[in-house]
Amino acid sequence: MDTQDRVIGLGGLSRLELGMRPSPLEHRPALASGLDVDVDLWVKRDDLYGPGVGGNKIRKLEYVVADALQRGCDTLVTTGAVQSNHARLTAVAGAVCGLGVHLVLDGDPVEKSGGNLVLDRLAGAELHFVRTQTWDELNAATQAVADELAAAGRRCCVIPVGASMPLGAVGYADAYLELVSQLDEMGVQAEYLVHACGSGGTQGGLLAGRALAAATGSGVTRAVDGTAASSHATLPRVVGVDVAKSKGELGPVVTEIAAGCLALVGSEAAVAAEDLVLVDGTGPAYGVVTPEGADAITVALRTSGILLDPVYSGKALGALPELVEGGVIRRGATVVFLHTGGSPALFAPSYADAVVDLL
Ligand SMILES: Cc1ncc(COP(=O)(O)O)c(C=O)c1O
Repeated sequence: MDTQDRVIGLGGLSRLELGMRPSPLEHRPALASGLDVDVDLWVKRDDLYGPGVGGNKIRKLEYVVADALQRGCDTLVTTGAVQSNHARLTAVAGAVCGLGVHLVLDGDPVEKSGGNLVLDRLAGAELHFVRTQTWDELNAATQAVADELAAAGRRCCVIPVGASMPLGAVGYADAYLELVSQLDEMGVQAEYLVHACGSGGTQGGLLAGRALAAATGSGVTRAVDGTAASSHATLPRVVGVDVAKSKGELGPVVTEIAAGCLALVGSEAAVAAEDLVLVDGTGPAYGVVTPEGADAITVALRTSGILLDPVYSGKALGALPELVEGGVIRRGATVVFLHTGGSPALFAPSYADAVVDLL
């Protein structure tokens, strides 16, 4: 990778340019009709952001890997589920930056490749399969791999699950500001931004970005007297759909990441408690395909040619009718769905069969 691909990002932090900005913002009324939901629907295509099929982890890794390079690291070590999108994108980001990548994957060894594992292996990552019961055990297993590599002379950067740490979240503070200026340019006033929440970094970053926008007036057209003009005054509320509720309580994690992110970019802005909107869309458990998720995957493909995944983006979009029914989202409102990617998981045999069986 060329050094000119490193730029100064938000808060003066170093950032790699792995994706093309801005990611597209598309008006998708047919998708809303197909889902039978009464909102004016837009889709922010972060599934198209970055290399290796792209997805939300790239914006986080742009900051985290830039920092690893600055610190002279030669190896990235991270962790996730066997079909982790974050692991796949760390494998690709590390490869294009000339770094070694070790992935500690939570599950039994899989000999036959499918879904994200194909790309993990093609990108040259070393895979370590471990069976753990808790996050603590998985983190300990990841640290053990890093310690062994360090003992062999490697300089490791250990990235937590989902790169959900304040530095990674800066990528989504950035993304929120990018969205607000797109909306402003297009003259669209969106009230809500809906997305899948798994390890909390995306929502933490988006909330930090919203606090930054509110503090600076970014994207908000000001009337002459300094009050926000009504024509362009909306900063969309961030609505996270928790797809990993079975793994633990996410709210405090999101809030802590948002605060850490704001501190990192040198802002005194804060996220108020009422700004955190996190609703449960997990279904029976993390990674278990639901009928609503399978329906959203089918409708998105048939109406709009958009590929969703069964673990994150399918469940989040599948929750939209319920969010309107339940009053979390106002009927008739303008809504942006942040498509966070994940489509390679759809091609893992277990997920592919589970989705097709629900048709
Ligand atoms: C496709 C996809 N969407 C959404 C998420 C959730 O993002 P976060 O972990 O930052 O909450 C993930 C996380 O793994 C993901 O892979």
